[in-house]
Amino acid sequence: MEKRDRLHEGKAKIAFATDDPGLVIFEFKDAATAFDGKKKGTISGKGAVNARISAVLFKYLEEKGIPTHFKELLSPVDMLALKVEIIPVEVVMRNIVAGSLSKRLGIEEGRALDEPVLEFYYKSDELGDPMINQYHVKAMKLASDDELLRIVELSFAINRHLKNFFAARQLELVDFKLEFGRRDGEVYLADEISPDTCRLWDMSTREKLDKDRFRRDLGGVEDAYQEVLRRVEGPGTMS
Ligand code: TMP
Ligand code: ASP
Repeated sequence: MEKRDRLHEGKAKIAFATDDPGLVIFEFKDAATAFDGKKKGTISGKGAVNARISAVLFKYLEEKGIPTHFKELLSPVDMLALKVEIIPVEVVMRNIVAGSLSKRLGIEEGRALDEPVLEFYYKSDELGDPMINQYHVKAMKLASDDELLRIVELSFAINRHLKNFFAARQLELVDFKLEFGRRDGEVYLADEISPDTCRLWDMSTREKLDKDRFRRDLGGVEDAYQEVLRRVEGPGTMS
């Protein structure tokens, strides 16, 4: 499968058409941005690390019955995927207070939530992905009622599976962002699952092993991404 026309360049990936109209290739980039692109940099080796982490996690979720767009890795940075129409509603799932939730509600970072919290954001670079709720989704016709129900059901299931997966690798899944796509009346998990889109803390030291090291200039960014890859590719042990 070869890359054909460049379809779209995002902040972390470039999408290419292929010979098959139903399939696309995502090339993962080392470029890193934060705060709606206001902070820019490079995380050396990130493209390959995030492609591999995403591949392992998509395969794991498929085994658990979650439909994903993932097909296979074609090279260290090229992921073959089903072509889906992205639903412009980003889902953030939270297990522990951090980031914007900590700021918005004035709760200290690190407090465990009794129940997972699901948030919707309108996927719009121009607007900086504003937070919305299910009524905005409905009024703006961003997704059908059936799609939204499915997105919520899948998001909670994905959270359960990923929390278990990471816990077996001594990683706390603090929060993460998901994107979904539609195709032939079905909803698929799309985009990527990586330290760019998840907050992951070492379970015993609570060291941050994710993009917050870049966002907050904590140093050791590359090492943190490599450490997540090492644990994700390892066998894992149930504690
Ligand atoms: P937040 O605390 O900044 O709202 O982020 C919540 C989670 O979503 C965190 O794991 C990082 C991820 N995220 C993205 O993947 N893309 C984004 O544009 C933002 C704002 C957050
Ligand atoms: N990905 C977003 C950006 O590039 C925000 C973030 O991850 O902090 O601005």
